[in-house]
Amino acid sequence: MGVDNIIPVGNTHFSREKPNISFRKIEKLFIIIYNRRMQIDLNNLVRVYDSADGLSKVAAVNDISLTIPSNQIFGIIGKSGAGKSSLVRLISMMEKPDSGEVLYDGQRVDNLDEKELVMRRRRIGMIFQNFNLFSSRSAGQNIAYPMEICGVPKDEINRRVDELLEIVELSDRKNARISTLSGGQKQRIAIARALANKPDILFCDEATSALDPQTTTSILNLIRKIQSQMNLTVVMITHQMEVVRDACSQVAVINEGKLVEVGSVNDIFLNPKSPVTKDFISHIGSDRRPDANGSDIIRWSKEGGEYELSFPSDKQGAPVLSNVAKKFDVEFNIRAAGVQHLTDGDIGKMIVDFTGFQVTEALEYLRNQDIIVEKAGE
Ligand SMILES: Nc1ncnc2c1ncn2[C@@H]1O[C@H](COP(=O)(O)OP(=O)(O)OP(=O)(O)O)[C@@H](O)[C@H]1O
Ligand SMILES: [Mg+2]
Repeated sequence: MGVDNIIPVGNTHFSREKPNISFRKIEKLFIIIYNRRMQIDLNNLVRVYDSADGLSKVAAVNDISLTIPSNQIFGIIGKSGAGKSSLVRLISMMEKPDSGEVLYDGQRVDNLDEKELVMRRRRIGMIFQNFNLFSSRSAGQNIAYPMEICGVPKDEINRRVDELLEIVELSDRKNARISTLSGGQKQRIAIARALANKPDILFCDEATSALDPQTTTSILNLIRKIQSQMNLTVVMITHQMEVVRDACSQVAVINEGKLVEVGSVNDIFLNPKSPVTKDFISHIGSDRRPDANGSDIIRWSKEGGEYELSFPSDKQGAPVLSNVAKKFDVEFNIRAAGVQHLTDGDIGKMIVDFTGFQVTEALEYLRNQDIIVEKAGE
């Protein structure tokens, strides 16, 4: 069994010793008096593996420092082999780093002893690309499993299984065999199981990579709903920029074991800095249907388009281009335009040509208006 197959289980909110106190009441009280938080800090994490032939070393995680804020969906994106899963194994305490620190809400967790580690891992839920469900158990029994291990009373397990099935909208499949479920339904059951013991953090390692675009959208919507309802910190590992765009608030881009860029999804889409990030963004959209508002850039002139302008959402109502034409000796010609829809707002894109005697001044003015101006195609 590889490390990816370990299913963290546990229960910190149930109490076996006090079966007559309503779990629901304790839970409500807990949420009221303790506004659940879980920020993760990574300080200079390093993890080196021996290569397959044993002759060299691979720095899968190479000096990564990062803050993953509480109660958000945080994306970690990178190409295959970038070190995403290796990094997640360190963040989720499945492996210890060779050096560096992992802190949960300011407390070191990378140096815990085995007993403390078991307790701490109980606060973590994980879902994977291949679901990792038990084929010998029904959907409901899969969800019950982590609670059984923690000795949760049977009637409490039954109640919680029903509640979780309702959350993932599969109440009618409680007794279904896993083999009879679709990929999307399997991932919903895996999500329900990951939430069984009310974790603080949910790790999703390529959770939608095996799903078609429509099912991906429905699973991402479910994760977003759960995140906001349960105040979870979600760490979403992916190689798909669409997943980052549709689900995450912040994102870290990693490449060859190193952190190359981090920031809000909005800023990174608006103004990607590293070549790796630009490459991810440039490949987005080809497998997406433009929606009713036209989510992809539409080109109505085959030629031209020297400058690419990116408008943050607060600038989209302003007559910026006509102001430019009034203020400076320039004319503009819009060659293509569209809107990129993000979780926290939209980014307007335009491919434009400028002619006249004051093009330099006009571009300078646009930049001062917080419009990102780049030579198209760069
Ligand atoms: N247990 C291990 N032993 C040896 N090398 C490893 C081990 N785990 C990861 N590596 C190596 O570390 C590098 C990063 O691998 P990792 O699985 O973290 O990448 P990834 O970004 O998750 O890729 P993918 O998108 O394909 O899942 C790769 O070169 C990989 O071969
Ligand atoms: Mg991986």
